[in-house]
Amino acid sequence: MINKIPLILIVDDNQMNLKVLGTILMEENYEIILAGNGKEAVHEAKTNHPDIILMDVMMPEMNGLEATKILKKDDETKNIPVIFITAIGEESTEEEGFRIGAADYINKPVRGPIVRARVKAHLELHNQKKYLEQKVLERTEELKKKNEELEETRFEIIKRLGKAAEFKDNETGNHILRMSRISAIMAKGLGLTKAECDLILQASPMHDIGKIGIPDNILLKKGRLDTDEWAIMQSHVYVGAEILKGNNSKLLNTAVEIVLTHHERWDGNGYPKGIKGEQIPLFGRICAVADVFDALTSKRPYKEAWPVAKAVSQIRNEKGKHFQPELVDVFIENLPEIIEISNHFSD
Ligand SMILES: [Fe+2]
Ligand SMILES: [Fe+2]
Repeated sequence: MINKIPLILIVDDNQMNLKVLGTILMEENYEIILAGNGKEAVHEAKTNHPDIILMDVMMPEMNGLEATKILKKDDETKNIPVIFITAIGEESTEEEGFRIGAADYINKPVRGPIVRARVKAHLELHNQKKYLEQKVLERTEELKKKNEELEETRFEIIKRLGKAAEFKDNETGNHILRMSRISAIMAKGLGLTKAECDLILQASPMHDIGKIGIPDNILLKKGRLDTDEWAIMQSHVYVGAEILKGNNSKLLNTAVEIVLTHHERWDGNGYPKGIKGEQIPLFGRICAVADVFDALTSKRPYKEAWPVAKAVSQIRNEKGKHFQPELVDVFIENLPEIIEISNHFSD
């Protein structure tokens, strides 16, 4: 618990009363500070952060009720328990005191055992409250840290899963890093939220995970695929969905959506379903642009890497055909950042 000697602020305009209360409390192991009116009390409370305040009501300059109102409004002092010292017959003041946040009241004339017992009880209560608040804060911090670690591990596993597919595919290692980042840049350019940009960044690395299930003689073939081989190649989207589906995680479900739609085309000539326009989920439409651009600018078993300018003009040519026109615009608008990513994660 908290081990320091409790600090008590006694507030009264009457020197005699201050002395009486001080003497009563000096019998315990307390440190005591004094204030002569409400204004001084507020000042002392803000400067010295007492553990408890004993507050007279009727005082010149600023009375006890006004001072307490100020203390209760201030984050620095609002949790300090205030005990009013009231005269018999001041019931309405006592009620008002509780209403504005007083912890308790003690009647004048004060008696030693009562004052000591009340102060002790409220100090313990206050300490326990502080202790619990501290514990909650610590636990929240711990949980936050654990959660961050978990998030990081999850993202790492996803990236590695994507990489596993790339090894088999013979695509160079950084394709998924570039493609996922380009997708996120486009999502940001479209004005999507930070959470949505993070989601596409984390889900898109899995877009070709299904290539794990495609035989090498098709996946790595240098020449053109025949009709049957092409059909098997296209099945990577279903294999991928099969690997990732059936979990209620938002991330995996988004990944399934991207896996199933990254080869659809805006004009409806894509696969597997041939859906068109906004029937294709937005993330699928974004990933299509990012994936094609990176494929064009990368070396593949069947082709050399294209220069950026040639790839960009190809993306432009596909505006309204393979790609949604607005997305091509966003792609062009963000080209400097996209090229930077391309170069940074080059093979
Ligand atoms: Fe694919
Ligand atoms: Fe890809």
